[in-house]
Amino acid sequence: MEIKPIEFKNNLLILIDQRKLPKKEEYFICKNYKDAIYAIKEMVVRGAPAIGVTAAYGISLYVINENSKENLLKNFNTICKEIADTRPTAVNLFWAIEKMRKKFEELKDKSLSEIKLEMLNEADKLFNEDIEINKKIGENGAKLIKDNSNILTHCNAGALATAGYGTALGVIRSAFYSGKNIHVYVDETRPFLQGSRLTAWELMKENIPCTLICDNMAGFLMKLGKIDSIIVGADRIASNGDTANKIGTYSLAVLAKKHNIPFYVAAPYSTFDFNIKTGKEIPIEERPGIEITEMFTKDSAPEGVKTFNPAFDVTDAELITAIITEREILYPPLK
Ligand code: MRU
Repeated sequence: MEIKPIEFKNNLLILIDQRKLPKKEEYFICKNYKDAIYAIKEMVVRGAPAIGVTAAYGISLYVINENSKENLLKNFNTICKEIADTRPTAVNLFWAIEKMRKKFEELKDKSLSEIKLEMLNEADKLFNEDIEINKKIGENGAKLIKDNSNILTHCNAGALATAGYGTALGVIRSAFYSGKNIHVYVDETRPFLQGSRLTAWELMKENIPCTLICDNMAGFLMKLGKIDSIIVGADRIASNGDTANKIGTYSLAVLAKKHNIPFYVAAPYSTFDFNIKTGKEIPIEERPGIEITEMFTKDSAPEGVKTFNPAFDVTDAELITAIITEREILYPPLK
């Protein structure tokens, strides 16, 4: 069954509410750009490409609901800035906003109704392209996945994290549907549990064989010879190939090196940030400590305990076997 995480219909942006999964499949409706901002900030929608597409539709919602061209010209950049301020690490957010801003510049002299139509077309274009790109990434990456193999993945880089199909899970889907006998180990991905709540849900929906493990079990599984390859998504890739992804990715890459297991990153080209040389320049989002102390159960930590909750880490390019994109497979470190 096809998963539709994002849909734009009748001037409404309809998002699967990822906070409610896997227990409930509910939808969060964005009527205006403020709703889209809330959805990104509060993790109704998450995952780098999905955030980008939501931002593009958020801008469209603003334009659609603005009935004065004068106000539109005056406020457009401020609204873009507000949307850009939602989350700092995934570069796809800023990439998508930039695409929308460029389109707006081209349209400035047109009528208000033409601008509304064209801006929505641009967001639709980004949405449709994202699905096509993911399918291409899937096709390219599936060649690296061996028949009869066990793959470990971290976080959720699936349909839910994109406009559809997924990047890391796109590769897994593509390998599975090409007839390969594969099995996926899913890291639960503390503290927000994107692995157990979202990735396991996606894989089970399509009967792709999977087993859920706690993050701290991955090293032991590698030692036992139970993992043949690791594949993850990315939030931002520096020019040299250093890659920011969900916290815990770096530890997996170090372990993979120790155990001689190929470590793959799957991401669209838009995840590259060529303005930065290395991963040191990637801003890492820090999230509230409550995600650590209360995400599982209310009583899992003493009240008032100090917390540190970086949402992402950076994996050095030298630890990455290959970066799978829609265009080609790259082998870091990159020049
Ligand atoms: O905090 P999240 O859930 O937005 O983090 C998501 C990830 O780290 C994903 O692995 C990444 O965005 C790639 S999604 C195709």
